[in-house]
Amino acid sequence: MSLVDEVLSKLTLSHETAVKIKSLLQSEMVKGLERDSGSTLKMLPTYVHDIPNGTEEGDFLAIDLGGTNFRVLKISLKDRKYKQVEKKIELPLEIITDTQQTLFGHLADVVTEFIKDNKISATLPLGFTFSFPVKQRSLTSGLLITWTKKFTAEGAVGKDIVELLKAAFDEKQVKVDVVGLVNDTTGTMMACALTDFNCHVGVILGTGTNACYMEQIENIPKWTGDKNQKQVIINMEWGAFGDATSGDPQEAGALAEIRTEFDKELDVSSPNAGKQRYEKMISGMYLGELVRLVLVQLTKKGLIFNGLASDELLTRNVFDTSFISNVEDLSNSDHSKTREGLSKLKLNFASEDLDIVLKVCQAVSRRGARLAAAGVAAVVEKIKKVDDCVVAVDGSVFQKHPTFSGIMKETLNELLPGNKIQLKRAEDGSGRGAALVAAVAVRMKGKL
Ligand code: BGC
Repeated sequence: MSLVDEVLSKLTLSHETAVKIKSLLQSEMVKGLERDSGSTLKMLPTYVHDIPNGTEEGDFLAIDLGGTNFRVLKISLKDRKYKQVEKKIELPLEIITDTQQTLFGHLADVVTEFIKDNKISATLPLGFTFSFPVKQRSLTSGLLITWTKKFTAEGAVGKDIVELLKAAFDEKQVKVDVVGLVNDTTGTMMACALTDFNCHVGVILGTGTNACYMEQIENIPKWTGDKNQKQVIINMEWGAFGDATSGDPQEAGALAEIRTEFDKELDVSSPNAGKQRYEKMISGMYLGELVRLVLVQLTKKGLIFNGLASDELLTRNVFDTSFISNVEDLSNSDHSKTREGLSKLKLNFASEDLDIVLKVCQAVSRRGARLAAAGVAAVVEKIKKVDDCVVAVDGSVFQKHPTFSGIMKETLNELLPGNKIQLKRAEDGSGRGAALVAAVAVRMKGKL
Protein backbone atom coordinates (compact mmCIF):
# COMPACT_ATOMS: atom_id res chain seq x y z
CA MET A 1 0.00 0.00 0.00
CA SER A 2 1.35 3.43 -0.88
CA LEU A 3 1.85 5.93 1.92
CA VAL A 4 -1.01 8.04 0.55
CA ASP A 5 -3.34 5.02 0.51
CA GLU A 6 -2.33 4.25 4.06
CA VAL A 7 -3.58 7.67 5.19
CA LEU A 8 -6.75 7.37 3.09
CA SER A 9 -7.52 3.89 4.42
CA LYS A 10 -8.53 5.59 7.69
CA LEU A 11 -11.51 6.97 5.82
CA THR A 12 -12.72 3.60 4.55
CA LEU A 13 -16.03 2.41 5.91
CA SER A 14 -16.05 -1.37 5.69
CA HIS A 15 -19.19 -3.41 5.18
CA GLU A 16 -18.98 -4.72 8.75
CA THR A 17 -18.71 -1.23 10.20
CA ALA A 18 -21.59 0.05 8.07
CA VAL A 19 -23.77 -2.83 9.36
CA LYS A 20 -22.74 -2.00 12.92
CA ILE A 21 -23.58 1.69 12.46
CA LYS A 22 -26.99 0.78 11.04
CA SER A 23 -27.84 -1.29 14.09
CA LEU A 24 -26.39 1.26 16.55
CA LEU A 25 -28.57 3.89 14.91
CA GLN A 26 -31.60 1.66 15.30
CA SER A 27 -31.01 1.11 19.01
CA GLU A 28 -30.48 4.87 19.52
CA MET A 29 -33.78 5.47 17.66
CA VAL A 30 -35.66 3.18 20.04
CA LYS A 31 -34.03 4.79 23.08
CA GLY A 32 -34.82 8.27 21.77
CA LEU A 33 -38.48 7.36 21.31
CA GLU A 34 -38.64 6.12 24.89
CA ARG A 35 -37.55 9.28 26.65
CA ASP A 36 -36.09 12.73 26.14
CA SER A 37 -32.62 11.95 27.44
CA GLY A 38 -30.22 9.06 27.14
CA SER A 39 -29.97 8.84 23.35
CA THR A 40 -27.92 10.95 20.98
CA LEU A 41 -30.91 10.81 18.64
CA LYS A 42 -33.50 13.27 19.95
CA MET A 43 -36.34 11.69 17.94
CA LEU A 44 -38.54 14.78 18.14
CA PRO A 45 -42.27 14.45 17.48
CA THR A 46 -43.31 17.12 14.97
CA TYR A 47 -47.09 17.19 15.50
CA VAL A 48 -47.44 16.57 11.77
CA HIS A 49 -49.76 13.57 11.64
CA ASP A 50 -50.94 13.55 8.09
CA ILE A 51 -49.37 13.67 4.70
CA PRO A 52 -51.23 15.74 2.11
CA ASN A 53 -54.29 14.10 0.55
CA GLY A 54 -54.28 16.25 -2.57
CA THR A 55 -57.33 18.35 -1.71
CA GLU A 56 -55.23 21.12 -0.19
CA GLU A 57 -55.56 24.40 -1.98
CA GLY A 58 -55.17 28.11 -1.50
CA ASP A 59 -52.43 30.71 -1.08
CA PHE A 60 -49.77 30.34 1.59
CA LEU A 61 -46.63 32.05 2.72
CA ALA A 62 -43.57 29.99 3.54
CA ILE A 63 -40.31 31.08 5.07
CA ASP A 64 -37.24 28.91 5.12
CA LEU A 65 -34.38 29.42 7.56
CA GLY A 66 -31.57 26.96 8.13
CA GLY A 67 -29.02 26.84 5.34
CA THR A 68 -26.90 29.35 3.54
CA ASN A 69 -29.91 31.31 2.29
CA PHE A 70 -33.10 32.66 3.75
CA ARG A 71 -36.14 32.40 1.52
CA VAL A 72 -39.66 33.76 1.51
CA LEU A 73 -42.21 32.21 -0.78
CA LYS A 74 -45.81 32.75 -1.75
CA ILE A 75 -47.19 29.43 -2.88
CA SER A 76 -50.52 28.83 -4.57
CA LEU A 77 -51.65 25.22 -4.33
CA LYS A 78 -54.28 23.53 -6.46
CA ASP A 79 -54.75 19.99 -7.80
CA ARG A 80 -51.43 18.81 -6.35
CA LYS A 81 -49.61 21.55 -8.30
CA TYR A 82 -47.73 24.60 -7.09
CA LYS A 83 -47.29 28.09 -8.41
CA GLN A 84 -44.77 30.13 -6.52
CA VAL A 85 -42.94 33.41 -6.28
CA GLU A 86 -39.93 33.63 -4.05
CA LYS A 87 -37.21 35.89 -2.75
CA LYS A 88 -33.89 34.47 -1.68
CA ILE A 89 -31.16 36.27 0.21
CA GLU A 90 -27.84 35.15 1.55
CA LEU A 91 -27.69 35.73 5.31
CA PRO A 92 -24.44 37.41 6.35
CA LEU A 93 -22.44 35.69 9.09
CA GLU A 94 -22.73 38.86 11.23
CA ILE A 95 -26.51 38.43 11.28
CA ILE A 96 -26.65 34.73 12.15
CA THR A 97 -23.99 35.00 14.84
CA ASP A 98 -25.25 38.16 16.54
CA THR A 99 -28.40 38.17 18.73
CA GLN A 100 -31.80 36.62 18.11
CA GLN A 101 -33.26 40.15 17.87
CA THR A 102 -30.86 40.99 15.04
CA LEU A 103 -31.58 37.72 13.25
CA PHE A 104 -35.37 37.73 13.52
CA GLY A 105 -35.54 41.49 12.95
CA HIS A 106 -33.66 40.98 9.70
CA LEU A 107 -36.01 38.16 8.65
CA ALA A 108 -39.02 40.35 9.42
CA ASP A 109 -37.59 43.10 7.19
CA VAL A 110 -37.11 40.70 4.29
CA VAL A 111 -40.64 39.27 4.66
CA THR A 112 -42.18 42.75 4.96
CA GLU A 113 -40.49 43.81 1.75
CA PHE A 114 -41.64 40.63 0.01
CA ILE A 115 -45.25 41.21 1.09
CA LYS A 116 -45.06 44.77 -0.22
CA ASP A 117 -43.34 43.89 -3.51
CA ASN A 118 -45.88 41.17 -4.23
CA LYS A 119 -48.85 43.30 -3.16
CA ILE A 120 -50.09 40.69 -0.71
CA SER A 121 -52.89 42.37 1.24
CA ALA A 122 -54.46 39.41 3.11
CA THR A 123 -52.80 37.78 6.12
CA LEU A 124 -51.93 34.44 4.55
CA PRO A 125 -51.36 31.29 6.62
CA LEU A 126 -47.62 30.91 7.05
CA GLY A 127 -45.50 27.76 7.20
CA PHE A 128 -42.14 28.30 8.89
CA THR A 129 -39.33 25.93 7.98
CA PHE A 130 -36.78 26.17 10.75
CA SER A 131 -34.01 23.63 10.22
CA PHE A 132 -32.60 23.19 13.71
CA PRO A 133 -33.41 20.87 16.62
CA VAL A 134 -36.67 22.08 18.15
CA LYS A 135 -38.69 20.49 20.92
CA GLN A 136 -42.17 21.09 19.59
CA ARG A 137 -45.08 21.64 21.96
CA SER A 138 -47.62 21.87 19.17
CA LEU A 139 -47.57 22.44 15.44
CA THR A 140 -47.15 26.15 16.07
CA SER A 141 -44.73 26.27 18.95
CA GLY A 142 -41.33 24.83 19.73
CA LEU A 143 -38.26 25.47 21.86
CA LEU A 144 -34.87 25.68 20.20
CA ILE A 145 -32.67 22.98 21.75
CA THR A 146 -29.38 24.10 20.25
CA TRP A 147 -28.11 25.91 17.17
CA THR A 148 -26.22 23.88 14.57
CA LYS A 149 -24.29 24.64 11.38
CA LYS A 150 -22.97 28.23 11.36
CA PHE A 151 -25.76 29.71 13.49
CA THR A 152 -25.04 30.96 17.01
CA ALA A 153 -27.46 33.93 17.47
CA GLU A 154 -27.56 34.66 21.17
CA GLY A 155 -30.75 34.55 23.22
CA ALA A 156 -32.64 31.99 21.15
CA VAL A 157 -31.71 28.63 22.72
CA GLY A 158 -34.47 27.48 25.07
CA LYS A 159 -36.97 29.99 23.61
CA ASP A 160 -40.09 29.46 21.54
CA ILE A 161 -39.01 30.16 18.00
CA VAL A 162 -42.48 31.11 16.78
CA GLU A 163 -42.78 33.64 19.62
CA LEU A 164 -39.44 35.18 18.67
CA LEU A 165 -40.54 35.44 15.06
CA LYS A 166 -43.89 36.98 16.01
CA ALA A 167 -42.24 39.50 18.33
CA ALA A 168 -39.98 40.62 15.50
CA PHE A 169 -42.97 41.02 13.19
CA ASP A 170 -44.96 42.88 15.85
CA GLU A 171 -42.16 45.36 16.10
CA LYS A 172 -42.51 46.07 12.37
CA GLN A 173 -46.30 46.10 12.75
CA VAL A 174 -46.74 43.26 10.29
CA LYS A 175 -49.31 40.60 11.05
CA VAL A 176 -48.42 36.99 10.38
CA ASP A 177 -50.46 33.87 10.98
CA VAL A 178 -47.98 31.07 11.69
CA VAL A 179 -49.92 27.82 11.27
CA GLY A 180 -47.01 25.41 11.06
CA LEU A 181 -43.43 25.16 12.33
CA VAL A 182 -41.49 22.49 10.45
CA ASN A 183 -38.06 21.06 10.07
CA ASP A 184 -36.69 20.93 6.49
CA THR A 185 -36.75 17.11 6.56
CA THR A 186 -40.49 17.17 7.31
CA GLY A 187 -41.06 19.71 4.56
CA THR A 188 -39.15 17.53 2.13
CA MET A 189 -41.13 14.44 3.03
CA MET A 190 -44.44 16.32 2.76
CA ALA A 191 -43.56 17.82 -0.61
CA CYS A 192 -42.73 14.39 -2.00
CA ALA A 193 -45.74 12.70 -0.37
CA LEU A 194 -48.05 14.99 -2.30
CA THR A 195 -47.46 12.78 -5.32
CA ASP A 196 -45.79 9.66 -3.85
CA PHE A 197 -48.07 8.00 -1.32
CA ASN A 198 -45.38 5.53 -0.34
CA CYS A 199 -42.99 8.30 0.75
CA HIS A 200 -42.31 7.50 4.41
CA VAL A 201 -38.93 9.16 4.95
CA GLY A 202 -37.41 12.60 4.32
CA VAL A 203 -33.67 13.24 4.28
CA ILE A 204 -31.57 16.39 3.94
CA LEU A 205 -28.02 16.16 2.64
CA GLY A 206 -27.04 19.80 2.31
CA THR A 207 -25.19 22.23 4.55
CA GLY A 208 -26.29 19.94 7.39
CA THR A 209 -27.87 16.51 7.43
CA ASN A 210 -30.92 14.99 9.08
CA ALA A 211 -33.86 12.67 8.52
CA CYS A 212 -37.50 12.32 9.49
CA TYR A 213 -40.04 9.54 9.05
CA MET A 214 -43.60 8.60 9.91
CA GLU A 215 -43.74 6.64 13.18
CA GLN A 216 -46.67 4.87 14.82
CA ILE A 217 -47.73 6.51 18.10
CA GLU A 218 -47.74 3.09 19.80
CA ASN A 219 -43.97 2.95 19.23
CA ILE A 220 -43.38 6.29 20.99
CA PRO A 221 -43.55 5.74 24.76
CA LYS A 222 -42.59 9.39 25.41
CA TRP A 223 -45.51 10.77 23.33
CA THR A 224 -47.60 13.11 25.47
CA GLY A 225 -49.80 14.53 22.72
CA ASP A 226 -53.22 13.44 21.52
CA LYS A 227 -53.52 9.68 22.11
CA ASN A 228 -56.17 9.40 19.43
CA GLN A 229 -53.61 10.08 16.75
CA LYS A 230 -52.21 6.97 15.07
CA GLN A 231 -48.96 8.34 13.72
CA VAL A 232 -46.67 11.33 13.75
CA ILE A 233 -43.62 12.43 11.78
CA ILE A 234 -40.47 12.14 13.91
CA ASN A 235 -37.61 14.55 13.35
CA MET A 236 -34.66 12.31 14.20
CA GLU A 237 -31.90 14.93 14.34
CA TRP A 238 -29.57 12.21 13.16
CA GLY A 239 -26.72 14.68 12.73
CA ALA A 240 -26.11 14.32 16.47
CA PHE A 241 -25.59 10.56 16.29
CA GLY A 242 -22.38 9.60 18.11
CA ASP A 243 -22.18 12.88 20.06
CA ALA A 244 -20.50 13.32 23.40
CA THR A 245 -23.40 13.01 25.84
CA SER A 246 -21.45 14.11 28.90
CA GLY A 247 -20.77 17.53 27.40
CA ASP A 248 -17.05 16.71 27.26
CA PRO A 249 -16.02 17.07 23.59
CA GLN A 250 -13.30 14.45 24.19
CA GLU A 251 -15.83 11.73 25.05
CA ALA A 252 -15.48 8.86 22.57
CA GLY A 253 -19.15 8.30 21.61
CA ALA A 254 -20.74 5.73 19.30
CA LEU A 255 -18.69 6.70 16.25
CA ALA A 256 -15.36 6.33 18.08
CA GLU A 257 -14.24 3.41 15.93
CA ILE A 258 -14.35 5.39 12.71
CA ARG A 259 -13.56 8.93 13.81
CA THR A 260 -10.18 9.87 12.45
CA GLU A 261 -7.75 12.55 13.58
CA PHE A 262 -9.26 14.70 10.79
CA ASP A 263 -12.75 14.42 12.26
CA LYS A 264 -11.45 15.23 15.72
CA GLU A 265 -9.54 18.27 14.56
CA LEU A 266 -12.52 19.56 12.61
CA ASP A 267 -14.74 19.04 15.63
CA VAL A 268 -12.60 20.86 18.20
CA SER A 269 -12.21 23.92 16.01
CA SER A 270 -15.94 24.12 15.17
CA PRO A 271 -18.39 26.42 17.02
CA ASN A 272 -20.21 23.35 18.43
CA ALA A 273 -17.38 21.03 19.55
CA GLY A 274 -18.53 17.54 20.60
CA LYS A 275 -21.84 17.96 18.76
CA GLN A 276 -23.24 16.90 15.38
CA ARG A 277 -20.51 14.31 14.84
CA TYR A 278 -22.39 12.23 12.25
CA GLU A 279 -23.29 15.47 10.42
CA LYS A 280 -19.65 16.51 10.48
CA MET A 281 -18.71 13.35 8.54
CA ILE A 282 -21.44 13.71 5.94
CA SER A 283 -22.71 17.18 5.16
CA GLY A 284 -21.70 19.99 2.85
CA MET A 285 -20.54 22.38 5.52
CA TYR A 286 -17.75 19.98 6.49
CA LEU A 287 -16.64 17.80 3.56
CA GLY A 288 -14.37 20.50 2.11
CA GLU A 289 -12.70 21.07 5.45
CA LEU A 290 -12.07 17.34 5.89
CA VAL A 291 -10.42 17.27 2.46
CA ARG A 292 -8.25 20.21 3.48
CA LEU A 293 -7.16 18.54 6.71
CA VAL A 294 -6.17 15.36 4.85
CA LEU A 295 -4.22 17.41 2.28
CA VAL A 296 -2.42 19.26 5.06
CA GLN A 297 -1.35 15.98 6.63
CA LEU A 298 -0.17 14.60 3.27
CA THR A 299 1.79 17.80 2.69
CA LYS A 300 3.40 17.61 6.12
CA LYS A 301 4.42 14.03 5.37
CA GLY A 302 5.97 15.29 2.13
CA LEU A 303 3.63 13.17 0.00
CA ILE A 304 2.08 16.01 -1.99
CA PHE A 305 2.80 19.59 -3.11
CA ASN A 306 6.50 18.96 -2.68
CA GLY A 307 5.95 19.11 1.06
CA LEU A 308 5.15 22.83 0.95
CA ALA A 309 1.84 24.11 2.28
CA SER A 310 0.73 27.62 1.32
CA ASP A 311 -0.85 29.93 3.92
CA GLU A 312 -4.10 29.47 2.05
CA LEU A 313 -3.99 25.68 2.46
CA LEU A 314 -3.43 26.22 6.16
CA THR A 315 -6.52 28.42 6.40
CA ARG A 316 -9.67 26.81 7.81
CA ASN A 317 -12.64 26.23 5.55
CA VAL A 318 -10.96 27.38 2.34
CA PHE A 319 -12.57 24.55 0.37
CA ASP A 320 -16.29 24.38 0.02
CA THR A 321 -18.10 21.29 -1.17
CA SER A 322 -18.36 22.60 -4.71
CA PHE A 323 -14.57 22.17 -4.95
CA ILE A 324 -14.99 18.46 -4.20
CA SER A 325 -17.83 18.18 -6.70
CA ASN A 326 -15.69 19.86 -9.36
CA VAL A 327 -12.66 17.65 -8.69
CA GLU A 328 -14.78 14.50 -8.87
CA ASP A 329 -16.83 15.62 -11.84
CA LEU A 330 -16.51 13.19 -14.75
CA SER A 331 -15.94 16.12 -17.10
CA ASN A 332 -12.81 16.91 -15.05
CA SER A 333 -10.76 13.94 -16.31
CA ASP A 334 -8.09 16.40 -17.48
CA HIS A 335 -8.01 17.87 -13.91
CA SER A 336 -8.52 21.38 -15.27
CA LYS A 337 -10.96 22.28 -12.48
CA THR A 338 -8.58 20.86 -9.86
CA ARG A 339 -5.75 22.98 -11.26
CA GLU A 340 -7.94 26.06 -11.12
CA GLY A 341 -8.95 25.38 -7.48
CA LEU A 342 -5.40 24.67 -6.32
CA SER A 343 -3.94 27.69 -8.12
CA LYS A 344 -6.30 29.90 -6.13
CA LEU A 345 -4.63 28.47 -3.01
CA LYS A 346 -1.22 29.41 -4.38
CA LEU A 347 -0.04 25.79 -4.29
CA ASN A 348 2.71 24.38 -6.47
CA PHE A 349 1.58 21.06 -7.77
CA ALA A 350 2.94 18.33 -10.00
CA SER A 351 0.61 16.31 -12.17
CA GLU A 352 0.76 13.29 -9.80
CA ASP A 353 -0.57 15.61 -7.07
CA LEU A 354 -3.75 16.11 -9.06
CA ASP A 355 -4.47 12.37 -8.91
CA ILE A 356 -3.88 12.41 -5.18
CA VAL A 357 -6.27 15.35 -4.67
CA LEU A 358 -8.89 13.38 -6.60
CA LYS A 359 -8.34 10.32 -4.40
CA VAL A 360 -8.67 12.40 -1.23
CA CYS A 361 -11.95 13.93 -2.38
CA GLN A 362 -13.27 10.52 -3.38
CA ALA A 363 -12.33 8.99 -0.03
CA VAL A 364 -14.02 11.77 1.98
CA SER A 365 -17.21 11.88 -0.07
CA ARG A 366 -17.46 8.09 -0.36
CA ARG A 367 -17.31 7.72 3.41
CA GLY A 368 -19.99 10.42 3.78
CA ALA A 369 -22.30 8.74 1.26
CA ARG A 370 -21.85 5.30 2.85
CA LEU A 371 -22.60 6.70 6.30
CA ALA A 372 -25.70 8.47 5.00
CA ALA A 373 -26.85 5.23 3.35
CA ALA A 374 -26.38 3.35 6.63
CA GLY A 375 -28.73 5.94 8.16
CA VAL A 376 -31.37 5.50 5.47
CA ALA A 377 -31.10 1.70 5.77
CA ALA A 378 -31.54 1.94 9.55
CA VAL A 379 -34.72 3.99 9.24
CA VAL A 380 -36.39 2.06 6.42
CA GLU A 381 -35.62 -1.26 8.04
CA LYS A 382 -36.94 -0.06 11.41
CA ILE A 383 -40.29 0.91 9.91
CA LYS A 384 -40.40 -2.32 7.88
CA LYS A 385 -40.74 -0.63 4.51
CA VAL A 386 -37.73 -2.19 2.79
CA ASP A 387 -40.02 -3.67 0.14
CA ASP A 388 -41.67 -0.43 -0.84
CA CYS A 389 -40.40 2.97 0.18
CA VAL A 390 -39.75 6.30 -1.42
CA VAL A 391 -37.19 8.34 0.49
CA ALA A 392 -37.44 12.04 -0.38
CA VAL A 393 -34.02 13.66 -0.44
CA ASP A 394 -33.10 17.30 -0.80
CA GLY A 395 -29.90 19.29 -0.30
CA SER A 396 -26.91 20.42 -2.30
CA VAL A 397 -24.68 17.43 -1.55
CA PHE A 398 -27.24 14.93 -2.81
CA GLN A 399 -28.28 17.10 -5.75
CA LYS A 400 -24.93 18.38 -6.92
CA HIS A 401 -22.16 15.98 -5.98
CA PRO A 402 -21.48 13.74 -8.98
CA THR A 403 -21.29 10.35 -7.21
CA PHE A 404 -22.83 10.79 -3.75
CA SER A 405 -26.32 9.53 -4.65
CA GLY A 406 -24.93 6.59 -6.67
CA ILE A 407 -22.71 5.47 -3.78
CA MET A 408 -25.66 5.74 -1.41
CA LYS A 409 -27.74 3.51 -3.65
CA GLU A 410 -24.91 0.99 -4.01
CA THR A 411 -24.43 0.93 -0.20
CA LEU A 412 -28.16 0.48 0.39
CA ASN A 413 -28.09 -2.57 -1.89
CA GLU A 414 -25.13 -3.90 0.05
CA LEU A 415 -26.84 -3.38 3.43
CA LEU A 416 -30.34 -4.42 2.41
CA PRO A 417 -29.99 -6.73 -0.60
CA GLY A 418 -33.06 -6.83 -2.84
CA ASN A 419 -34.56 -3.70 -1.25
CA LYS A 420 -37.14 -1.60 -3.12
CA ILE A 421 -36.05 1.73 -1.73
CA GLN A 422 -36.15 4.66 -4.09
CA LEU A 423 -34.08 7.72 -3.25
CA LYS A 424 -36.08 10.48 -4.84
CA ARG A 425 -34.75 13.94 -5.47
CA ALA A 426 -37.24 16.30 -3.85
CA GLU A 427 -36.85 19.68 -5.39
CA ASP A 428 -37.28 22.53 -2.90
CA GLY A 429 -38.81 20.46 -0.14
CA SER A 430 -38.12 23.00 2.54
CA GLY A 431 -40.01 25.81 0.82
CA ARG A 432 -42.93 23.91 -0.65
CA GLY A 433 -43.15 21.53 2.29
CA ALA A 434 -43.72 24.39 4.73
CA ALA A 435 -46.61 25.60 2.60
CA LEU A 436 -48.00 22.08 2.49
CA VAL A 437 -47.81 21.67 6.25
CA ALA A 438 -49.63 24.99 6.49
CA ALA A 439 -52.20 23.77 3.97
CA VAL A 440 -52.79 20.48 5.77
CA ALA A 441 -53.08 22.35 9.08
CA VAL A 442 -55.66 24.69 7.60
CA ARG A 443 -57.55 21.76 6.05
CA MET A 444 -57.56 19.88 9.35
CA LYS A 445 -58.96 22.92 11.12
CA GLY A 446 -61.74 22.83 8.56
CA LYS A 447 -60.98 26.36 7.48
CA LEU A 448 -60.88 25.60 3.76
C1 BGC B 1 -30.16 20.50 11.92
C2 BGC B 1 -31.42 19.81 11.44
C3 BGC B 1 -31.59 20.04 9.94
C4 BGC B 1 -30.33 19.64 9.19
C5 BGC B 1 -30.44 19.89 7.70
C6 BGC B 1 -28.97 20.08 11.07
O1 BGC B 1 -27.83 20.79 11.45
O2 BGC B 1 -29.91 20.21 13.27
O3 BGC B 1 -32.56 20.28 12.12
O4 BGC B 1 -32.69 19.29 9.49
O5 BGC B 1 -29.22 20.36 9.70
O6 BGC B 1 -30.70 21.22 7.41
